[in-house]
Amino acid sequence: MNERIYIFDTTLRDGEQVPGCQLNQKEKVEIAKRLEEMGVDIIEAGFPVSSPGDFSSVMEISKAVTWPTVCALTRAVETDIKIAAEAIRYAKRPRIHTGIGTSPYHIRYKFKSTPEEILERAVRCVRYAKSFVEDVQFYAEDAGRTDNEYLARVIEAAIKAGATVVDIPDTTGYCLPTEYAAKIRYLMENVKGIDKVVVATHCHNDLGMATANTMAALSAGARQAEVTVNGIGERAGNTALEEVVMTCRSHPELGFTTNINTQKIAGISRMVSTLMNMPVQPNKAIVGRNAFAHSSGIHQDGVLKNRESYEIIDPQDVGIDDNTFVLTARSGRAALKHRLESLGVHMEKEALDKCYELFLKLADIKRELTDEDILMLAGKHRMAHNRIKLDYLQVSSGVGVRPVASVGLDIAGEKFEACATANGPVDAAIAAIKKIISRKINVRELLIQAFDKGISDVGKVHITVDCDGTNYNGFSANSDIIAASAEAFLDAINKA
Ligand code: KIV
Ligand code: ZN
Repeated sequence: MNERIYIFDTTLRDGEQVPGCQLNQKEKVEIAKRLEEMGVDIIEAGFPVSSPGDFSSVMEISKAVTWPTVCALTRAVETDIKIAAEAIRYAKRPRIHTGIGTSPYHIRYKFKSTPEEILERAVRCVRYAKSFVEDVQFYAEDAGRTDNEYLARVIEAAIKAGATVVDIPDTTGYCLPTEYAAKIRYLMENVKGIDKVVVATHCHNDLGMATANTMAALSAGARQAEVTVNGIGERAGNTALEEVVMTCRSHPELGFTTNINTQKIAGISRMVSTLMNMPVQPNKAIVGRNAFAHSSGIHQDGVLKNRESYEIIDPQDVGIDDNTFVLTARSGRAALKHRLESLGVHMEKEALDKCYELFLKLADIKRELTDEDILMLAGKHRMAHNRIKLDYLQVSSGVGVRPVASVGLDIAGEKFEACATANGPVDAAIAAIKKIISRKINVRELLIQAFDKGISDVGKVHITVDCDGTNYNGFSANSDIIAASAEAFLDAINKA
């Protein structure tokens, strides 16, 4: 009999902690619904005490999803717990995720406390959470660097206080797979009552071992894997949902099964990437655009003779089906709407009609439109509603001349113009825009990529700007990469 692994998705909490990737409430609810549709068991919806926006998103997610458990994070602080309980009031299956740091770094430097005091606080927070909900998950933050004997005492006390799930985070992504598995095994063998609760893994990817550590811990007895879509999260990210699910599926000898409909993986990966403005690295396992691309002649020949020569996963099993990628001028509005929704873009009728007009124009030129083309159209449509719009852009550059850009902006109906020179044409365009918008804006990152699937006529630009100390992400796509860069810059500052 296979062992059931519970998938706990924290895209909307740990994933959303990435600077510049914040989602609005509507987007969070959409993602939660897609996680439910895919079969995620527990959705960590947010950290309600952190902001009124987060509180209200957790509440709306609690109302919107039907069967998954909805979990809210707290510190070991009474106010946090009370507010979290309020936010998940409407959840059909509410869970509070509370806890405290247990490593010497946390005890000594963060809390300036003692191991005994921390143990008492752990017990108190579980008991208090238990007064609101039955299902309480306790986390021992930085468990990866916590001494096993002390960790076992804290976990045993949390279970005695009523915890139903105990989470053993490798918060800093420090552990080796053997070390993390040994930690879980130690707890399984030494903590009284651990057989009555679910043991959870929560791994970060600082050394690139999050998935390896998660799998090692499952083999040692953990039964809940905490993951994010595309592995997004603080610093190097969290364990990727798609990697754990597909590893369980590709290795039946492990005897693990999950509730995930794997064919939904590619769709949700694109949706999260689009809504969070976070490109997926091309060589990302399972969901990167090169994950199933075979470029060398030897590999192509091998795959044509037998797919399994070089592929351990059938792309269709994760929802990548090249035949479904193509929309043409003969496709109707319904097909476009369906594709937009699968990419995380909702449009009302009027907006859809306008987008469909753009779609037909492009389909006449390009014959076949991919997901990236559709996203570009949706982006153009979204930008039409921005407060600051690009009226015109003219750039001249070449060898032996200094690039110069002149820019016209429409800001809430008023027209502005400026010129600037700089070292490169993109720089010059951005410098001209900055002359008009008198706020302190610095470009932190600018990524220009060609669209995949052999389309070389459209480039996409992801940009991160720092505006008054906060990061904002922007995106655009255009056949002119300088225009795409200027549009992406404006997209970001419109958010600011
Ligand atoms: O990484 C971590 O330790 C966490 C906890 C709050 C669960 O995200
Ligand atoms: Zn974390």
